[in-house]
Formats: sequence, structure tokens, C-alpha cells
Amino acid sequence: MDGMCLTEHIQRKDDSNGGELVGITYGDVGTTMLQCNICTPVDRGEYVMIQHPTAGNVLGRVDSIERRTNVSIEKAMELSEGKDVEIEESMIGHVHVIGYRDQRGLLQIPSNPFRAGEKIYFAEEKLIRDVLGLKNDDTGAYIGKLKGHNIPVRLNINSIAQKHLSVLAKTGSGKSYTTGVVIEEMMKHEVTMVILDPHGEYPSLARPGKVSSNDFGVNPRGYGDMITEFSPNPEINQGARRLSFTFKNMRPIELLRMMNASTRKSNVVALEAAMTRLEASKGFYDIQELIMHFKRNEEDDVSSLIRNLEDLEKKGIFASTGTRMDEIVRKGKTSIITLKGTPPDVQGFVVNRLATALFELRKRNKIPPLILFAEEAHNFCPQQGKIESSEIFQTIASEGRKFGLGLGIITQRAAKVDKNVLSQCNTQIILKVTNPNDIRAIESSVEGITKDMTEEIQRLPIGEAIISGGGLSEPLIVDIRPRETQDGGASIKVV
Ligand SMILES: Nc1ncnc2c1ncn2[C@@H]1O[C@H](COP(=O)(O)OP(=O)(O)O)[C@@H](O)[C@H]1O
Ligand SMILES: [Mg+2]
Repeated sequence: MDGMCLTEHIQRKDDSNGGELVGITYGDVGTTMLQCNICTPVDRGEYVMIQHPTAGNVLGRVDSIERRTNVSIEKAMELSEGKDVEIEESMIGHVHVIGYRDQRGLLQIPSNPFRAGEKIYFAEEKLIRDVLGLKNDDTGAYIGKLKGHNIPVRLNINSIAQKHLSVLAKTGSGKSYTTGVVIEEMMKHEVTMVILDPHGEYPSLARPGKVSSNDFGVNPRGYGDMITEFSPNPEINQGARRLSFTFKNMRPIELLRMMNASTRKSNVVALEAAMTRLEASKGFYDIQELIMHFKRNEEDDVSSLIRNLEDLEKKGIFASTGTRMDEIVRKGKTSIITLKGTPPDVQGFVVNRLATALFELRKRNKIPPLILFAEEAHNFCPQQGKIESSEIFQTIASEGRKFGLGLGIITQRAAKVDKNVLSQCNTQIILKVTNPNDIRAIESSVEGITKDMTEEIQRLPIGEAIISGGGLSEPLIVDIRPRETQDGGASIKVV
């Protein structure tokens, strides 16, 4: 390897103020990609600084490294025969040019090529921060550190709130854990939130956790004073307040689906007739009155409908005064809607009602701006098959930003979430994904993701994420910080 590092022969003036030398550019040099020899051990993904004749110090990233040798098949055979063979080798790095900040602070790529024979250095922290948009202030959401560096990664909270967020990963890769980190940061900054929580993983945000590693400067903390829990099923979810709705604007089909009853024509017609009559005579009525109506009129064939309605009534979803939206949405506070123990069809109804109310009230500015998080979002806005809440999720995804209603989509099946919704999420947190369909869905919805990064996604260990958007100038690999609060998703041991 000696002599590979051409430093002695280089004619160019070394006017860098950078760190340790990585290598020297050689061959045909472009403006976005270049090659260099490598004379110091360096890892793939490392950030480097390259000098450009007019642009000055430019940030790049080593995307791949190869070892070139003169070991031919003949030499390999000699080696296998135990002969002494002289091996020459050199390390080549392929550097992807990220850019530099111009006088206005905009990210630029040099408009003409770098020079061959130029030195490449490990990038200094300041250059990395400046170019990648990693501001070191308290206004951002502190999510973790740039992989391999002691540089905090803070995401722009307004950008998350206004332009939607998605957290994508296969089961068990840390979606709920990481979303918990995001929500802690949002609570710290008094962002108003509503969290749709099908598994009851988020109420633990109220309690301080045990921080084991403290390289991240994280201290245990609970957010009990900021969180209220609601559930359609407070019997199972103790500590939650009952979430109920009025019977207003119910449609026969919606009702039948909720009751898991047949949507055959006779049922729809019977309900429609009864509901129209009640509305005409009373204006407002509740589910008990609907049951009474059927019982009084004792028509044939409605006995099973009556039983279904009675079962539904017992669930307590409907009440003469439903939960007020201004109880659920309180400025700077977080409400968790725990859907554990609620059947899927009732969940669909609850989510649709809630999301629709949030959107309508935000439009009229009756509630403060907020973010709506949806865990298992593929169940609420599926790519295939239209369900009750499909439409409102599309509406929030496309129009929410105009009205200060942000969306946080969390799913283990990127391919199964409505593309119209996913493509509107401008901040993405991607953890390990292996399903090829999901990878394709991610590739097509994440801007600036490289082939190397899609490869990387399949190998990400727990605790590492690729983050794009959120004020970052390009997708980064981030070591997610530990939780301040208790981890509600930790697997329950069977024995
Ligand atoms: N950044 C992290 N640091 C430490 N443990 C983590 C981290 N992310 C996830 N885990 C652990 O990995 C497991 C799976 O995480 P979880 O968030 O429940 O995954 P998912 O929601 O994707 O199914 C949990 O036991 C969790 O504690
Ligand atoms: Mg989870």
C-alpha cells in the first residue's frame, strides 16, 4: 500500500482547513460523482470534504468502496499451490457529491467538475451540519444522532406538522418505539396531537422509562400531565375516558357494517325507512329510540336486526351526548384514542368519525392546529378496497396542510397504504423493511433515496433509521435516541 497515497507528488496547494486525509481524486471527475484512492481506513457512508476550484469546500459521502488487486486467475492458482505471490492492491472509493451552501444558504452542487488530483478529507462537523441542514438548536425534534457521528439530528417540527410524516418498517423493527420518540419531542414543544392507537402501545408515554445508554443525553421523563386517554372500550382500557358519539348522521350501511350484520337490501331498506320516519317526527333520536321503533312496529324479519342493534347499544359507542371534540383536542396536549378491544368495524367507524370531525373543525378554526397519528394506518386508508375512513384520510393528506391538520402514518405495509396518502408524507422515517413490494412503495414515495440506501433499508439493525425530509437536505442514516418514557411496544414474554 505504500506509495498509494500520492500526497508527496501532488503539486496543488493544500489550502484546506479540514481533518485527516482520506485520499485523492483521480481519473475522469464529474460534478456529482467522483472516485478517489483511499489511503486511510474509511467506512462506507462516511462524509468527506472535497475542494472545488470555485465552490470551495464541498460535502460528499463515500457511497461504496472496492479493493482492486492484480490477482489474476493464474496468480490465484499459484497461491493455491502454496507459492509466494506478490499482490498489489489499492482501495477505491466512489464519492457521491452532496453539495455546499451558497451565500443565501441554499444547497448547491458545483456547476463545473472537480479537479483530478484533489485531496479529499474527512469532513469536519461544521461542514456536515451546515450542508445537511442539522441545526444545533432546541427548536427541532431531537430524534437521534447522525450514524457514526456525535451530531444530533433534529427535525423541523413545522415541516412534520404541515407536510405529514410516515414511519415505515416491518413488524418488530421499532416503529412504535421511534414514533414514541417523535411524540415525546412533539409534547416537549407543546404540539397538539391525537393518536389512534389500535394496540394500546402509547399510554406508556405518561410514565418515565429506564434509560440504559446515556450517550444521547436523554433522561427518563413521563408526560402524564400532557396526556389524556380515550377509548370506546374503557372496561378493557382502564384509565381511559369513554369515547362515544351521537347517533347523528348515521347511515344504514355504516350501521350494518358496525354491527357486522348483513348489508342485504332488506336490512338497508328497513333501517332507512325507520330512520327517515324517526328523523321526520323527532329530528334528533338515539339508538334506543331506533330499537323501540322497531319493537313497536313489530314488522316481520327485523328480530335479528333488533338483536344486532341491542348488542351495539350495549357497547356504549352511542350516547345522547357524545364526547366533545374540544375535550379531545386541547391546545398543546395529547389525546390517545386506545382502540384495543374494539372490533375492526367499530374501529373503522370511530376513526372515520374522529378524523372527519377534526378536519371539519380545523377548517372552521374551532380547534387548534394539530397532528393526527395513525398506527396500523393500512387499516384506515388501505391501497385496495374502499372503507369508511378511506376518503377522509385522502382529504387530510391532500388538504390538511392548508388547514393546519398534519398526519402521521405508521405502518408495517407501505405497499398496502393508499398511495395518495403515502405520497403526501414529506418526512419519512424508514426502519428495516424486507418485503420487495414495500421497498418498491418506499422507493416511489421517498425523494432523493439512492439505490444504496434501498439496499441499506433491508439491513438496518434495530435502532437505526433512514430519515428523509423534515428539513434535512438529503436522506440520512440516524441512530435513534433512547426513549425518555416507558416503551409500550416491548414484546410480552410468554414464559
Ligand atoms: N431505538 C431502539 N432502541 C432500543 N430498543 C428498540 C429501539 N427500537 C425498537 N426497540 C425494541 O425493539 C422491539 C420492537 O419495537 P417496536 O417499536 O414494538 O416495533 P414495531 O412497532 O415496528 O413492531 C421492542 O422490544 C423495542 O423495545
Ligand atoms: Mg408497533
